[in-house]
Amino acid sequence: MYQQLYQHFLTGHQGKQHFACHSHHFWPDVTRQAMLEYWDLSAAESDEKWQQVFGVKLPATQKLLAEVLGSHHPEQVVFAPNTHELVMRLLSCFDWGQPIRILTTDSEFYSFQRQASRLQESGQVELTVIPTAPFTDFEARFIAAAAAGDFDLVFCSQVFFNSGVALTDLSAFVQQLDKVTDAMIAIDGYHGFMALPVDLSAIEHRIFYLAGSYKYAQAGEGCCFMLTPAGNSYRPFYTGWFAEFGALQQERSEQVPYSDDGFRFAGATMDFSALYRLHAVLQLFKQQQITVGQIHQYVQQLQQAFLQQLTTLDQQVLTENQLLKRDLTQHGHFLTFALENAALAESLADFLKQHHILTDFRGNRLRFGFAMYQRAEQFDLSCLSSFSHRK
Ligand SMILES: Cc1ncc(COP(=O)(O)O)c(C=O)c1O
Repeated sequence: MYQQLYQHFLTGHQGKQHFACHSHHFWPDVTRQAMLEYWDLSAAESDEKWQQVFGVKLPATQKLLAEVLGSHHPEQVVFAPNTHELVMRLLSCFDWGQPIRILTTDSEFYSFQRQASRLQESGQVELTVIPTAPFTDFEARFIAAAAAGDFDLVFCSQVFFNSGVALTDLSAFVQQLDKVTDAMIAIDGYHGFMALPVDLSAIEHRIFYLAGSYKYAQAGEGCCFMLTPAGNSYRPFYTGWFAEFGALQQERSEQVPYSDDGFRFAGATMDFSALYRLHAVLQLFKQQQITVGQIHQYVQQLQQAFLQQLTTLDQQVLTENQLLKRDLTQHGHFLTFALENAALAESLADFLKQHHILTDFRGNRLRFGFAMYQRAEQFDLSCLSSFSHRK
C-alpha cells in the first residue's frame, strides 16, 4: 500500500529484492521535488536564501522531528552532516587535560567506536566496554557497570547495529542510569529513529539523542541531528560559528559565547539540501497520517513473513538458531544471522546478489532489512536451497 510513494527508486531497482533498507533506505518521490526546491531557491536567491533556510525550513524540520520524538523542545535539535561530527562535539565537552572515562558497549557503530578506540590509543579516553550479549540481561549489566564506575560519558545505542536487538524500554533505561550516574548520557538512536516508536518526553532533559536521515527517515545522506537537553551549559571546544547563533547580539565577554539552544552544538556551513529532503519526507508522512507505529507494525509483518518463508525452504544456511534476537516485537528493522565465519557471510551475500537479492554483512553477520516499500508476497528466497559454500 505504500509502494506508490517510492516510484522512482522502485523503478530503478526493478527485478531486485532490496533487503539493504537498514543501510541505504529508498527515498520517497517527494525528495526529488525537495532537491529541486533547494536548487531553485539557491538560483533565485543566492546567499539571500539563508533567511528561508534558517528562518523557515530548519525550524519546520526541528518541529517535525520533535513531533516524531515526543520532544517538547524543537529548538534543542541541532543538525550536522553526519553523526561522527556530533560525537566529536560531545567528546569535546570534556576537559582533555585528563582522560575521558567512557562507559559503552561492544556494539556501537564505527563513528563512535573507531574514534573512541583511537583516542584510547593515545590515552585520551578510558573505555569500559560492556558486551551486549547475552542480550537477556544487557540493561541490568550495563546499569550495574554505570553504578560501579565514575564516568564522564555513557554512550549506548537504542538498537544495536550488529544484531538489531533494541533496548527494551529506552526511557526506563535512561531513568535507571540517571539514578546511578551524573555522567553525560548519549543515545545513538540511528537504528531506532523512524523505525521504532519513540517518546523521549520523560528523558529529554537528561540525554543527547543522535540520529540521521540516511536510514529509516528515508531522506538520504547529509542530515544528521542531535536532540540536546534544554538549559545545558556544555561548551564544546570543537565548535563552529553556527554555535554562536542567537548569541550574536551579546556583548563579547572574555569567553567564547554559545547559543542558548541546540545550536550551541553546531558546526559551520553545510549543504542543506539533505534537510530539505528530510523535511519533505516528514511532511509527507504527517500529511498522509503515516505514523512510526504503523510503519513498525508493517515491518514486523514483513519480518514474520520472511522468517516463515525460510522455514518452508529446503535450506540450512539461514536458520532460527543463527538469528540474533531477544524479542522480535521490540526489535530493529533488520534481521541479523550470525554465520559460522565472515567468509561464509561474504560468500552468501555475493550469492544472493547474483540472484538479485540485496543484503549486507558486518563480519560474520548477514543482515536483511525491511521497509515500507516491500511486499511480503514478493519475497522469494528459494535460491537459498541451491547455495553451497566452498571453503
Ligand atoms: C548506529 C549507527 N550510528 C550512526 C551511523 C552513521 O554514522 P555517520 O553519520 O557518522 O556516518 C550508523 C550507520 O550505519 C549506525 O548504524
